Amino acid sequence: MSLAVPGVADRVRRRVREFHTERIAGAWGGRHLLHGRTPGPGDVLVNSNDYLALARDPRIVEAMCAALSGSGAGWLASGVFQHGDHPQLALERALAGQMGAAAGVLCQSGWSANVGVLQAITDARTPVYIDHLAHMSLWHGAKVAGAPIHPFRHNAVAHLRERIAAHGPGVIAVDSIYSTNGSRCPLREMCALAEETGSLLLVDESHAVGVDGPDGAGTVAALGLVERVPFRVASLSKAFAGRAGFVAVRDPEFVDYFKMESEPAVFSSALLPHDIAGLATASAVVRVEEGRRRRLREVSARVRAAMAGLGFDLEDSASQIVALQTGPDRRALAIRDFLEQRGVFGSMFCPPATSANRTLVRFSLHAALTDAEVDRIIDACAEVCSYFGATPSAWLETVSTATDSAPAGETIR
Ligand SMILES: Cc1ncc(COP(=O)(O)O)c(C=O)c1O
Repeated sequence: MSLAVPGVADRVRRRVREFHTERIAGAWGGRHLLHGRTPGPGDVLVNSNDYLALARDPRIVEAMCAALSGSGAGWLASGVFQHGDHPQLALERALAGQMGAAAGVLCQSGWSANVGVLQAITDARTPVYIDHLAHMSLWHGAKVAGAPIHPFRHNAVAHLRERIAAHGPGVIAVDSIYSTNGSRCPLREMCALAEETGSLLLVDESHAVGVDGPDGAGTVAALGLVERVPFRVASLSKAFAGRAGFVAVRDPEFVDYFKMESEPAVFSSALLPHDIAGLATASAVVRVEEGRRRRLREVSARVRAAMAGLGFDLEDSASQIVALQTGPDRRALAIRDFLEQRGVFGSMFCPPATSANRTLVRFSLHAALTDAEVDRIIDACAEVCSYFGATPSAWLETVSTATDSAPAGETIR
């Protein structure tokens, strides 16, 4: 036994070393792909998911501060013990009401909500059909449950139908707005297919709650599909500007079952009182801030139209998430620096968040962007277009003419 220990330690060391030599020193030329310049005053930040610009809202901040010094502070335990008039239970009712759901349950994060739900509703006999671009937490939940995972091509309802015909009814897991490219799921078709095949639909609404629908209820509610979607999950670390996850369900009995059967709910401590207080106020603020939702739609439509006009492939973005498909890491790094030199800060997404050679710069647009800031984003993208070309392949052609070969291992998609 003791002889095996150095071998394991060596393997771990080798993995760590490989990351540093192959990725940071190799592919990224000694710089961290995700860590660029530190933004300063006057820069345009589109690298946070604070879509309604509520993160520093005084109403929310005050509620959090009051809770920090209030009587509930210091309660640290699993949510499974909560009962009676605990503020989390009141918030669960408020959020369920906001999303038009019969009931709901709060989790520590969107990640634990997705993992917990899939673990609680699937098993080795229940296939899980996951959109290729769905969030990693959905894949992880299916894995933890030991469920057979059958991915289907992004938004390809016909492909999903074939997969279900081959493997039987199961759980279909999709995002209403996809986090890497801002495309939207064809939810009506998904509902129809789920009903036709006896499958259950789970929709991750993380990028849609607060943003879509009446009172920010999300896309499912906006489309009138609440009664047809048994499970909706949302990270509240986006438009709600907090840190938590929420599972909205049609069956109120599911809540107590989930709190005892989902491992992240049982074995990890619950949200803190100031998280709950902040989210309770955020929920009320989100409901009434229709003007911010309108502004977000205007800004997003403008940026999408301008970027499509420049020739960028927006991969069907129809939301506040707009991504520049930068391709291989080398090109992505150069574009990131170029944008940051012009004061525009997006977020880099690279493997494991994307597939190989599909690194991207994501702009998460928000309601507080001024017209001048929107102009700066568009102008910077126009310059990216003239300097690098709108597509990765255009750039690689230039590089290969200059250097006579593309970097080893890089493929042009
Ligand atoms: C679609 C989607 N689902 C789930 C999550 C996980 O949420 P959280 O950050 O609250 O764990 C995210 C966050 O990145 C997300 O984008």
